[in-house]
Amino acid sequence: MTSAGRGVRGPWWRDAVCYEIHPRAFADSDGDGIGDLPGATARLPYLRDLGVDAVWLTPFYPSPLADAGYDIADHTAVAPDVGTLGDFDTFAERAHTLGLKVLVDLVPNHTSDAHPWFREALAAPGGSTARERYLFRPGRGVRGEEPPNDWRSAFGGAAWTPVGDGEWYLHLHAPEQPDLNWYRPDVVADFERILRFWLDHGVDGFRVDVAHALYKDPALPDAGPGQHEDPARNHLLPYYDREELHPLYRSWHTLLAEHPAGPPGSAPPGERLLVAEAAVFDPARLARYVRPGEMGQSFNFAFLECPWEPAAIRAVVTESVDAMTAVGAPVTWVLSSHDAVRPVTRYGGGPVGVRRARAAALLMLALPGTAYVYQGEELGLPQVELADDRLRDPVWRRSGGTERGRDGCRVPLPWEGGRAPYGFSSAAPADCWFPQPQGWAALTADAERADPGSMLELYRAALRLRRSGSARAVADGAALRLLSPPDAAHLAFDRGDGLLCAVNFGARPLALPESFDGTEVVLASGPLTDEGRLPTDTAVWLRQVVRSVG
Ligand code: GLC
Repeated sequence: MTSAGRGVRGPWWRDAVCYEIHPRAFADSDGDGIGDLPGATARLPYLRDLGVDAVWLTPFYPSPLADAGYDIADHTAVAPDVGTLGDFDTFAERAHTLGLKVLVDLVPNHTSDAHPWFREALAAPGGSTARERYLFRPGRGVRGEEPPNDWRSAFGGAAWTPVGDGEWYLHLHAPEQPDLNWYRPDVVADFERILRFWLDHGVDGFRVDVAHALYKDPALPDAGPGQHEDPARNHLLPYYDREELHPLYRSWHTLLAEHPAGPPGSAPPGERLLVAEAAVFDPARLARYVRPGEMGQSFNFAFLECPWEPAAIRAVVTESVDAMTAVGAPVTWVLSSHDAVRPVTRYGGGPVGVRRARAAALLMLALPGTAYVYQGEELGLPQVELADDRLRDPVWRRSGGTERGRDGCRVPLPWEGGRAPYGFSSAAPADCWFPQPQGWAALTADAERADPGSMLELYRAALRLRRSGSARAVADGAALRLLSPPDAAHLAFDRGDGLLCAVNFGARPLALPESFDGTEVVLASGPLTDEGRLPTDTAVWLRQVVRSVG
């Protein structure tokens, strides 16, 4: 909105909609109750019909599943419960045939404790090369009984675990996820090998997990009192957002641009994508990950975490567009993921939550840039309260049972039928990855396809318009103009291409402002009032039919 006319870099991903698949909860083909790659392949036509441009698969690699697969024991293989490498190739080939790009997760910050490197490190003495691939240090205190510093795990508790010989190892997540030492050339080289391996198997890009944390201050200083409590200041932590990250990402950019073309249908060199999962909340700092020659995109968690309030959303939209446009990168928008409480629940639950989630979807899909949609968001699934004994998230255990963690958004998708497991699997409902609740018959993909007022049909209509209709996706936010005053109970903007969007957060129906004269409604998240006003928690897309004069 400030730096007009620079244009946004990037090919297909500049304005794409990418659908996140969490494979074990998506579709099961072999009746073991665990979603798998052949199951996902069979459902690809659903995604083509939904109208997305790309799919991102969360980890499907061999793993003890201490953190839903983000603890990887072998980065260049497929977990047996999810399929084979041949199944991955079939998935990618079928996706490409349907016009869908494929992203996979790259998890470079840590490995599983079952990775051969970590096993070797545990068996080796302190100071050995094997231990130097990770971050082993002697403990503090007279007998080394205290952790080497005060760093905290993102899942609660200390970020260090003792191994019984006076040394401790660092894990910014679960103890089963030891952090790698990125100052080691063999670590760097191994991840280059992993990138090349998946490019050869046809992937079009990578979502880079915990992209802000690979390098730690080599002196491993204490973070200091209070430093862990304020996410807005997390770039000041000695293990977050360090300068050394950027040369590494530039080298990956070059690798992706230069590695030879993959199988037919995959994105050519130069059109591949790196997207950063960087928990950096200052927009200007986040933009540093997507400067020319680095990554293509970074997730915009500020949008996901924003409360349903016009001033807060307005600020996030403005700051995100300004920061990304300044470096020529597309803004990304995301309302849900495998780590977040589902939007209909987060926005209040029940009919209010559904109404707001519908409005939020139209807001997100009108904004310039790329959107990420997490499986089940398009069905309006709520967060599920799982029984204690079904919870798998390390957060549950490490918080001593005070935080339930993220499993409630990882319940298998309901596809069809009137009873659990709703076409997800032929296994008994209790034997599925997570049990689905009863009462989801109206939320299956089949049921929603037959209901013009469903969440699925809203997403389909919006995505159809983004692709080919009067609300085509735009990449560049430079021309975005806010039409509502900062203190208004609504947010309204003109994208600069004749498409206007308004969201009413206020309690009273909103008469559309004068700037909307000469427009016609293209799509609305709910019915307007008889007087043509926009009800509370409702969004509308309008298109200029006549240019207003003066
Ligand atoms: C990312 C993933 C999350 C995982 C963590 C550790 O934040 O999205 O699911 O637990 O990294 O790998």
